Amino acid sequence: MSEAPLPTVLVVAVALIDVDGRVLIAQRPEGKALAGLWEFPGGKVEPGERPEQALIRELNEELGIDVNEACLAPFVFASHAYESFHLLMPLYLCRRWSGVVTKREHAALAWVKPNKLSDYPMPPADAPLVAWLRDLL
Ligand code: C5P
Repeated sequence: MSEAPLPTVLVVAVALIDVDGRVLIAQRPEGKALAGLWEFPGGKVEPGERPEQALIRELNEELGIDVNEACLAPFVFASHAYESFHLLMPLYLCRRWSGVVTKREHAALAWVKPNKLSDYPMPPADAPLVAWLRDLL
């Protein structure tokens, strides 16, 4: 008998890039899956949302910033088969936002040069994006 396929979860994430070319990463808090690992900020796309809408909502909730959809630039897709779901995660690039990046839901935030991102332990879906960013930026 074949097993039921794993559900797919769509998570959107962003590399916020500051004027010095540093990228924002955020440490997952205690009590959540993968606590202590550093991720690109973002979150789950809710039913009925477009991915860009979800990202704008998540950045407002998690970091207190506003992003204009027109500023969200092309992305690369990450994917990873976790034990109970298959994660599909487009990564957006964003260089412009309004408001001050504020830690609201994470344990810590860090602005990191692309060549130092690999010093930070990341979830398995996020880690392959580091090489892509290093080459791009
Ligand atoms: O952030 P949240 O817990 O809602 O994300 C759902 C799941 O997606 C996490 O448990 C984690 O397995 C995965 N995830 C990830 N990388 C991210 C964000 C989420 O692997 N940047």
